[in-house]
Amino acid sequence: MSVKIGLIGTGTVGGGCIDIIKNHREDFKRHYGVDIELVRVCSLDRKEAEAHGVGDLFTDDFNEIIGDPEIDLVIELIGGTGVAHTIVTEALKAGKYVVTANKALMATAGEEIFHLADEANVEIAFEASVGGGIPIIDPMKHSLISNEVSSVLGIVNGTTNYMLTRIGEDGLTYDAALKEAQEKGFAEADPTADVDGFDAAAKIAILASIAFNSRVVLGDVKTEGIRNISPVDLKNAREMGYAVKLLAIAHRTPEGIDVRVHPTMIPLSHQMANVNGVFNAIYVVGDAVGETMFFGEGAGAGPAASAVMGDVLDVARRITLGVPPIVGCTCTDKLPIASMDSLETRYYIRFVVPDRTGVLAKAAEVFSRHDVSLRSVKQQGTSEHNEVDLVFVTHTAREKNIRAVLDELAGLSDMLLSEPTVIRVED
Ligand code: HSE
Repeated sequence: MSVKIGLIGTGTVGGGCIDIIKNHREDFKRHYGVDIELVRVCSLDRKEAEAHGVGDLFTDDFNEIIGDPEIDLVIELIGGTGVAHTIVTEALKAGKYVVTANKALMATAGEEIFHLADEANVEIAFEASVGGGIPIIDPMKHSLISNEVSSVLGIVNGTTNYMLTRIGEDGLTYDAALKEAQEKGFAEADPTADVDGFDAAAKIAILASIAFNSRVVLGDVKTEGIRNISPVDLKNAREMGYAVKLLAIAHRTPEGIDVRVHPTMIPLSHQMANVNGVFNAIYVVGDAVGETMFFGEGAGAGPAASAVMGDVLDVARRITLGVPPIVGCTCTDKLPIASMDSLETRYYIRFVVPDRTGVLAKAAEVFSRHDVSLRSVKQQGTSEHNEVDLVFVTHTAREKNIRAVLDELAGLSDMLLSEPTVIRVED
């Protein structure tokens, strides 16, 4: 008996999946005793299906897949939370297994989707939604399941990691680094999701839900992107012994789940500091296993298709053997989301000011007024245009107090010539 598959979305990742099925169907039968048969592909562009030799399976109407009683498993690869939501929910209601790479959908409608899968006694699998080709969801749901996980830290956005690497190591400006990332095809169609941190936020929401057995949604993740980062910040960080990464962070704390995405200084000696270019890495700390790190290519046709097809084969094997779904929702607890206000860490804050008497003293006074103790203060840059950078590094301070400092500084329009760059330190 073959497991019949309907694939929706024939772009980069969909094309990669079609190629894998075509090239390895016989291997899968031999190795795993699973015969997967692609019976329908749906997209808006017939040419994409034809380019992968499956023009005869083409439809532009996803209902022909969802409504086909022959189809056991639907692969959703169009992304987003619009039509994809309809496809995934309707496919589950129709009793079909679903494999998706859709992080935005899983990070916003995960609970509803798991509930529908449970009701229909089928599975939803989404390994490719985080970390591209890196196995992380399956290891967390299986191999690490006996652990109480205390932290998950991830470099989970290849575009921004590539940009930060180019800015830091090659001195590119933010704009030049973004242009290059787009030219190389790393950035999503709309780079906002990458550079403003929302892509990483969806991914850490998914990982935190699994790690802490408690539902975390995209809206729970405090998110800041990398727009304000300049070569000078990366140079300053390096001089202080740190690399700057857009880090997706989830910690179990006494106040609840501390979950956030922002540019972060991590010690150069930490393995995560050496994850460069488009590579992703996810660092998981469990009470039994200790520290683990998962590393690999976080995007692209091959890696993402590898993750999708891993799920497909896993699910197809259970369908073939008649084994009931075993990988359901694991969010059985209801932990609160910790307020960002209570975060305590060190901060790097840089902004441009006019180079004139009293400005530095006035800025320093703002920190002191909000009970933020300074570890170092530096004025740097030439005064060509009568403008210089002020760089403050704090001792451990409360986020709430730092917010108050930033709010007060924002009001000093005669001396604040740039939006402050804020980088938190994760030691
Ligand atoms: N745009 C993402 C990244 C890849 O740059 O990592 C897809 O999740």
